[in-house]
Amino acid sequence: MYLPTLAVLLSGIQTSFALACTCSSHFIPVHVDALVPKDSTDQFGGLKSNASDLRRVDEIYTIYGVFCQPNTVSPDVVQLLVHGITYTSQYWSPPTEEFRNYSYADFSCVRGLPSLAIDWLGVGLSSRPMNASDVQYPTTSAAVSQVARYLKQTPLRPGLPPFNKVIGIGHSAGSILLHFGAVLEGAESPFDGLLLTGSLIVPPNILPPPSSEFLFSARTVDPERWAALDPGYISTNNRSLFYSPDTTTFSSRMLVFDNFTKDVGSVSTYFQTPTTSLAAPYTGPVAKVVGSSDQILCAGGVAGNQCQDVEALTKAERVLWPAARSFDLVVAQGSGHDLNLDFFAQGPFETLVGFVEQFLGFDKALLFV
Ligand SMILES: *[C@@H]1O[C@H](CO)[C@@H](O)[C@H](O)[C@H]1NC(C)=O
Ligand SMILES: *[C@@H]1O[C@H](CO)[C@@H](O)[C@H](O)[C@H]1NC(C)=O
Ligand SMILES: *[C@@H]1O[C@H](CO)[C@@H](O)[C@H](O)[C@H]1NC(C)=O
Ligand SMILES: *[C@@H]1O[C@H](CO)[C@@H](O)[C@H](O)[C@H]1NC(C)=O
Ligand SMILES: *[C@@H]1O[C@H](CO)[C@@H](O)[C@H](O)[C@H]1NC(C)=O
Repeated sequence: MYLPTLAVLLSGIQTSFALACTCSSHFIPVHVDALVPKDSTDQFGGLKSNASDLRRVDEIYTIYGVFCQPNTVSPDVVQLLVHGITYTSQYWSPPTEEFRNYSYADFSCVRGLPSLAIDWLGVGLSSRPMNASDVQYPTTSAAVSQVARYLKQTPLRPGLPPFNKVIGIGHSAGSILLHFGAVLEGAESPFDGLLLTGSLIVPPNILPPPSSEFLFSARTVDPERWAALDPGYISTNNRSLFYSPDTTTFSSRMLVFDNFTKDVGSVSTYFQTPTTSLAAPYTGPVAKVVGSSDQILCAGGVAGNQCQDVEALTKAERVLWPAARSFDLVVAQGSGHDLNLDFFAQGPFETLVGFVEQFLGFDKALLFV
């Protein structure tokens, strides 16, 4: 009984998914050199600020990630998975047997696609700056872009060549982070395609302030874990908003698990949500996937019932990606904000893998010869 566990601990490498895939933990050093707004509540994350209203953050941080690789094929592409606010890399692979089939890392790996699911700067096992005002989109997106560059330059494991292509896949604030990088870096982006789930345009001046019902200081939410944190780090005490209003569409035990494994985010990440309304000169392919029962974005959320007319929504969203090679939008029927965590998850998983293959011009059959 104990030997395999010991072997796992010693090597840091876990073989799972019925021996189809091998996963390992990594700590990746990144140099972040970014300009952030002095006012960390600035809605546009400093992108519209004058130089005198910006300050420089120049630091080396460590970003934690879980890398999963198929055992039988070694494609030259990797998916970089970026969770949303108050989540961690575990969003892409809930680490418990009960929720094994909610793992996008597993689902895509079995179909031949490796992934690296990271923890944001300030979150989980990545570096957490003392001051939450250093965790803003300019720094968090710079850290993720640096991880993408690292994947293209440095072997993650001995004997594994660097990847030729990196596809960025975000959820919620993780999608906003990738969007922010695309606005800033445009054609210089290290990403060869962007898949943005659970994120739509949120115009400026409509977000309510963070409230005690939903998002507030992490040190109040769970003093045992977070009493020592800067009050600019926030968390939640009720995750219902992340799921469909129809409570028969998800496991009530998932809600409990989600509440127990939650993490923190920075309050500026919330305030800077309107960066989603800025156009990006990004030139790669882009696709968005959102759940029709997303209480934040679709089903009566901040922007009303905009997801019912998919054609109109696609047209409105496409405007921000004038240089993109392609733009697609899918409304996943029945899914809530957390597309990965309800009973419909297999649908969005198929959609994501389909888009990755479309972006790469893959012939699916090639992966399995
Ligand atoms: C930037 O500076 C100009 C000139 O001083 C001023 O008119 C403008 O309002 C400033 N913009 C912002 C966003 O502060
Ligand atoms: C955090 O950093 C900001 C910007 O440098 C500064 O204004 C603020 O006082 C700092 N907060 C703490 C608690 O050190
Ligand atoms: C969480 O919020 C939902 C909807 O806002 C509410 O129905 C539910 O009772 C809340 N759960 C708890 C434990 O407070
Ligand atoms: C979620 O966890 C917090 C502690 O972090 C606890 O106070 C709260 O009751 C839990 N909420 C639910 C809905 O389980
Ligand atoms: C996972 O399996 C359970 C039990 O078989 C099922 O109810 C659930 O819908 C599945 N979840 C996903 C995401 O497929």
